Order: sequence, then structure tokens, then C-alpha cells
Amino acid sequence: MLHTQTIQITDAPPGEIGAQITGIQVNELAADAPELEMIRQAIYRNKLVVIRGQDITPEQYVAFARKMGTPQVYFQENYHHPDFPEIFVSSNVPEPDGRKIGVAGTGHYWHTDCQFQKHPLSFTSIMPVIIPKSLRATYYIDMVKVLKNLPAELRKYVDGKTYIHGGNNRYKVRPCDVDKSIQELIDYMNQIVPPVEHPAVIKHPVTGEEALYISSGFTMQIKGLTYEENKAALQALFSFIEKEEHIYTHHWDKGDLIIWDNRTLLHKSSRLPAGELSKSYRIGIYDQYPFYVGIENNG
Ligand SMILES: [Fe+2]
Repeated sequence: MLHTQTIQITDAPPGEIGAQITGIQVNELAADAPELEMIRQAIYRNKLVVIRGQDITPEQYVAFARKMGTPQVYFQENYHHPDFPEIFVSSNVPEPDGRKIGVAGTGHYWHTDCQFQKHPLSFTSIMPVIIPKSLRATYYIDMVKVLKNLPAELRKYVDGKTYIHGGNNRYKVRPCDVDKSIQELIDYMNQIVPPVEHPAVIKHPVTGEEALYISSGFTMQIKGLTYEENKAALQALFSFIEKEEHIYTHHWDKGDLIIWDNRTLLHKSSRLPAGELSKSYRIGIYDQYPFYVGIENNG
């Protein structure tokens, strides 16, 4: 029998990101529970939510993701949990039977998930399994705020522009890639995830907010500019975007389940302190809306 739960959502102060949610266990929410829509709306409003005090199994995590939307099965299998392909595993923890599960050292650069795909990911959720003792943080940048603050000399590289994105430089070599040349790996990546175009500024399908949609992790070039112009423009844009004053830090506590909106936030994970173990589960979730106004729905 389900317990009676009273959800409490504390929104971020105006102009900031990150709501706190308490009072629920996500595995106890029924498929039609009104709390699910309350959580989705809190994500749209606050861009990031932290649901505290969760103690759930991988199976319950997948079940919750299904209630929130459509879980992603990541296109590279080497990231998959062995029993639940929806779970993307970041781990440097040796398994007792010597198997390698997941990928170590993911996402230590500014990006937004699946920007290199035609239909990027709406939400990302993360649940830590093993938190390193000295540091485990995820950093965020609010790209709605960045766009509002963008100086005029950078605005000219953004207004009406189209950007090209790709994930090739971030490819994680797999055991089966031994003996392949770098060129063969580049050709393989170009075949499975060819570069894509998105507008520099995207309009959120729910909030109507406009966000700058570029990242130093995945953005390759501004369409129509020369090599030299591109280099100078991207360097200037990224050094403005990644200024200290734009960065919000979430330090992980055991039991945190966080979910954010990839339309409006950049993120990167903290570097792993030497000699420490870290393991986390991620599930990407597609909501029911197109990624931005003007693109057709994924689905
Ligand atoms: Fe990521």
C-alpha cells in the first residue's frame, strides 16, 4: 500500500536556479500521481530540482523515469547498466567479478546532454551510488541569464545565427576499438552521430524563455563564418559564458536525486580526486514537448 506523502517544493530565489523537493519517496508515486506534474513544472520553473532523501533500487529508478516521461536508451552500449539499458553508468569502481561496467570520467567539460543530436535530451536525472569523500559536485550555467547579459559585441555572433555541434571529440574508446586508427574512429562517429545544426538561441516550449544554446564541449562552429572568425568568436563567447559569476555548484549528498532541464542549463562534473571511487547512475528523460519551438517533436 502506498503511504500518504506530502510533497514540499521550495523554489529557488528569483533569478536563481535549483528547487529543493522533500516529503516524497519517488518509488511510492503512482503512475497518475499529481506530484509527477508538480515535479515537471518545478523543473521548468527552476531549471534544476534536487529531490532529497531517496533510497531506491535501479529498477525503481527506471520505473520513476518512465512515470516522468520516456527514458532514453543511450546510443553507446558501453555506458549501459547490465540489467537496465536506460541507466547510463559513470563509474571507476572495479566490479567484484572483474567486469567493467559503465565509463569513468564522464562529462568533465561544459556541455548540455545530446546537443550533438537532432533531438537533444529534455531532462537529465542523476542518482549517486558512491560519492567520493573529498569532492563530488556538478556545476551549472543558466543560459537564459547568460543570453540576457550577453554584451553587444558578442550578440552579433548570436542573433539569427545557426551553430554546428558534434560529439566526436568526446568519444570514449572501448576495448573493442583496439587496433582501430583514429581516422577509423572518426569515420565511425561521423556515421552514427553526424554533426547537427541548431539555432544559436532556442525558445523553450513550456516557459517561452529564450536561451543561448552553445557549449564549449560540443559546439564546433558558427555557420557562415571563416575558420579565423569562428575561432575568435567562439573563444570570446565561451570565456564570457564560463565566467565564475555564472556558475552554480551542487555538492552531492547521499540520497539526492537531481533532475535538470537541458534546454536551458549547461553542466559539467567535478574532477575526480586521485585515488577515490565514484559511481553514479543517470537516466535521460524525454518530456512530451519538442526540444525548442520550431523543431518538430521527437515523438
Ligand atoms: Fe552530461
